[in-house]
Amino acid sequence: METVAERTDGYDLRIADTADQLAHAVAEAMVQKVSQTLARQAHFSLVLSGGSTPQRLYRLLASEYAQGVEWQRVHLFWGDERYVPHDHPASNYRLVRETLIEPLQLPAENVHPMPTHLAVPDDAARLYEGELRAFFGETPRFDLVLLGMGADGHTASLFPNTAAVQERERWVAVGEAPVEPRRRLTLTFAALNAAKMVYFLVIGADKAEAVRRVLVERAPLPAALVLPSAGKPVWWLDRDAAQALW
Ligand code: 6PG
Repeated sequence: METVAERTDGYDLRIADTADQLAHAVAEAMVQKVSQTLARQAHFSLVLSGGSTPQRLYRLLASEYAQGVEWQRVHLFWGDERYVPHDHPASNYRLVRETLIEPLQLPAENVHPMPTHLAVPDDAARLYEGELRAFFGETPRFDLVLLGMGADGHTASLFPNTAAVQERERWVAVGEAPVEPRRRLTLTFAALNAAKMVYFLVIGADKAEAVRRVLVERAPLPAALVLPSAGKPVWWLDRDAAQALW
């Protein structure tokens, strides 16, 4: 009988019994990674995911684990954004402002939200790419990218069968979601796969089939195409999301 590790070779799998245990495990791993990195470089560049899954993690990072990180040296970026004002309930920026930025009083110069105020979303995508190029230069070598996955296998706002999934040059593109808010901005695979490390956080039985399709079947879903050259993505799963791997 193949072990789960053998069936999902090519990925680094970390499974916790519950969503709460998973959030603690990821927070601990992040605190360690940030501290190790800041011992040898000035800043840590962290890409945050939207949606509901990471909220528990963000709240832990801003409370129980806040002392473990020199947050003044951490720069926040977004993996994707809904094309709505930053105070809109669906805004990923608003989610992070409420759970991380305000509680930790992060300096504004360390926070790099995706712009959503321009009339033309593609102009905003180019503006954000310019900000990334100003920060990174030639390659967007993010220290850590946090991603979620939808039940359809999308990640960030790279949805199946959309133009953004085909983009191989630009670092930021306009995404098209099948649900409101449909217009999005998203990092592309060109940016995601340049990262030093990627963590996927996936919880819940509703994601189990997509997890199996990505990790075992290698179905060409967007989440399966995040394969940074710097190292295996770490898939952090709760027991429910991992249930189809056996
Ligand atoms: C977003 C996210 C998106 C999310 C998945 C999973 O803007 O919604 O970036 O990619 O990670 O849709 O969402 P849940 O965590 O809410 O299941």
